[in-house]
Amino acid sequence: MPVRVLMVCLGNICRSPLAQGILESLTVSQRWHIDSAGTANYHIGKPPDSRSITVAASHGIDISNQKCRQFTISDFDRFDYILTMDCENQKQIAKMARNASDLKKVMLILEGNGITNAEVPDPYYGSLSDFEAVYQMLHQACVTFIDSKDH
Ligand code: 4NP
Repeated sequence: MPVRVLMVCLGNICRSPLAQGILESLTVSQRWHIDSAGTANYHIGKPPDSRSITVAASHGIDISNQKCRQFTISDFDRFDYILTMDCENQKQIAKMARNASDLKKVMLILEGNGITNAEVPDPYYGSLSDFEAVYQMLHQACVTFIDSKDH
């Protein structure tokens, strides 16, 4: 069975598409199924923010084919791990959990690095350097996450 991971942010155009692309690039084997979604419905059907596409491309990762979608309850059945970018995303998804098993799947992506309540800051109103900083945080978090699953 593949490890099924869903990355979640607010808009599904800045942070979670980057997180998806990074984790995909680090897990070339078939053992992983990775997707992303947003808690909001603002940008459904759109590609990632051009700044996320640019920063990913500068690290050799193509995320331009991703398409924004909104989180749905059925995602609790379709994924083993639901990794949220900030406390607000975490709260929104936790609120939708139907039971303890759903809730157990949801965690802040930076918590794997031992940083309690740490958030990946929303770069939407920021500059390209904010997107690069998000990339670096997510890359580290993804490496840590993979290590924790491989052992
Ligand atoms: P994301 O960033 O949650 O990382 O995709 C945002 C994208 C769009 C908006 C907010 C955050 N927005 O308000 O449209």
